[in-house]
Amino acid sequence: MPMDVDLGLENTYIKHTKLTYIDGELGVLRYRGYDINDVVNNLSFMETAYLMLYGRIPDSKELKLFSSYIGDGKLPERIFSMIDTFPEGDPLSMASSVFAALAIDNNMKWSIDENKRNAGRIIGLSFNVFANIYLHIKGKKLYNIDLGDPVSGFLRVTNNMDPKNVKAFEAAMILYMDHEIPASTTAALVTASTLSDMLSSLSSAMNALKGPLHGGAAENAFLEFLDIGSPENVKPWFNEHIIKNRERLIGFGHRVYKTYDPRIKKFRELSMSLCDEKNRIILDTALELERVALDYFREKKIYPNTDFFSGLLFNELGFEHWFFTSLFALSRVTGILAHIIEYNENEQRLIRPRAIYNGDGERFIKR
Ligand code: ACO
Repeated sequence: MPMDVDLGLENTYIKHTKLTYIDGELGVLRYRGYDINDVVNNLSFMETAYLMLYGRIPDSKELKLFSSYIGDGKLPERIFSMIDTFPEGDPLSMASSVFAALAIDNNMKWSIDENKRNAGRIIGLSFNVFANIYLHIKGKKLYNIDLGDPVSGFLRVTNNMDPKNVKAFEAAMILYMDHEIPASTTAALVTASTLSDMLSSLSSAMNALKGPLHGGAAENAFLEFLDIGSPENVKPWFNEHIIKNRERLIGFGHRVYKTYDPRIKKFRELSMSLCDEKNRIILDTALELERVALDYFREKKIYPNTDFFSGLLFNELGFEHWFFTSLFALSRVTGILAHIIEYNENEQRLIRPRAIYNGDGERFIKR
């Protein structure tokens, strides 16, 4: 008999991985052995996605072939009709429904030979899924975006095609691409471990990612900055909410990082460089909040997490706060697929943990 349960699976390892290395004490994150800042400063989204799936940086021929897989990710008409029926509401629930609907008649049954090709197509599909959910919520006509360069094709839905913005959005898509096995990736792995298909596994992941303890922090941190309103309000707001009422400061703290999250450097640099006059007060408020909070939390090793800065950037790129979690999810699709493939190719085993029964002893129904 086990002594106790491992609540939150905090001390349980369910797979080996060659994808992402994290050292939470030193603040290190590597994709396939390359430091995250090296990756984001030198590789494109497509090269990084290839690196995660195939384990190496592609040459131009390999990249062309991979691009053609991604280009296959076009949504059929029936999916546009389906999206058009969705009521106003949560984009992640819409994404989960669309991935599930794409699985109904998909011909991507589990096959080691076809997995990476299918993953490329699903990455293309996911750019179309989220672009069209955005268009639908904005009341616009749905269409298959140009997947030749999915990152700029996607940004076109916001009419925000300045090359500086495309580069910044591409960096965000790389920074969020993988982070070992948080709840959403684990949900996908549980589904995939039954040898269910990759689209159904993604559908599971979306439902886990939407929870406020996981994907929702970027939006909530941004709303926090709006609520504070200006740098002068930071101190009184912090004293009232965080010190007196003992509320959690959203965008601070992390289960793994006990120092600065290494992705913050780039997120901060980008949000500072794209900030215009209209957004200056939000950025200044955030920077003052970071300063005040660091002073207060440093001893407890509570530092800002990526979500403290990513919302600032997504806002500057023209996205509304209700879509921030979707952008995180879109970027994470590649990492989730890479983990599914790695698990089922190397260590495939049905994930089926146990629960320790602590209910009544045997009882008898008396009628
Ligand atoms: N604000 C105030 N106090 C905090 C915060 C915070 N953001 N984070 C941790 N603490 C405190 C706790 O109150 C606790 O204090 P205590 O020991 O005096 O009771 C201590 O630090 C440890 O907290 P735990 O909740 O046990 O730490 P855990 O590792 O589980 O927390 C979490 C991680 C959930 C992210 C937490 O830091 C938090 O709630 N942060 C705010 C929400 C957030 O930003 N989420 C995004 C996470 S990153 C991501 O998902 C991409």
